[in-house]
Amino acid sequence: MELLINGKTVSADVESEMPLLWVLRDVLNMTGTKFGCGIAACGACTVTVDGLAVRSCVVPASSVVGKKIRTIEALGTPEKIHPLQAAWIAEQVPQCGYCQSGMLMAAAALLEKNPKPTDADIDAAMTNICRCGTYQRVRAAIKRAAGIKV
Ligand code: FES
Ligand code: FES
Repeated sequence: MELLINGKTVSADVESEMPLLWVLRDVLNMTGTKFGCGIAACGACTVTVDGLAVRSCVVPASSVVGKKIRTIEALGTPEKIHPLQAAWIAEQVPQCGYCQSGMLMAAAALLEKNPKPTDADIDAAMTNICRCGTYQRVRAAIKRAAGIKV
């Protein structure tokens, strides 16, 4: 099948039911997206599909053919980081870092839809689990990226 990932059409010779996360990591060697639980519970595998955050461990690859898939690899570059990544650095969000690519993609989807989220909006959108407990810093960084005073 052909998938549109980070603006490029990519061919992957996989079973239609293979979860998108497996296609990204094991077939395309795009390992920025993480495996945590495999049951849509933790959010480590979050990517965006047509701008919406999805948990790629439970999304069959065939269901996203023709849609715009964006992964952490395309959020920013070292030369031109995304405002969220700059805010993540400024707020010193990552601890072990394992959950953070999923956190960033969920935050990117939130700000795309809602550039000035309230605390309640952030809490509703950011359901990713962080074993290091970075939740307060994640909220602060989202507000910083959105230009909201904290
Ligand atoms: S690995 Fe997909 S939600 Fe946890
Ligand atoms: S930074 Fe360690 S799991 Fe979130």
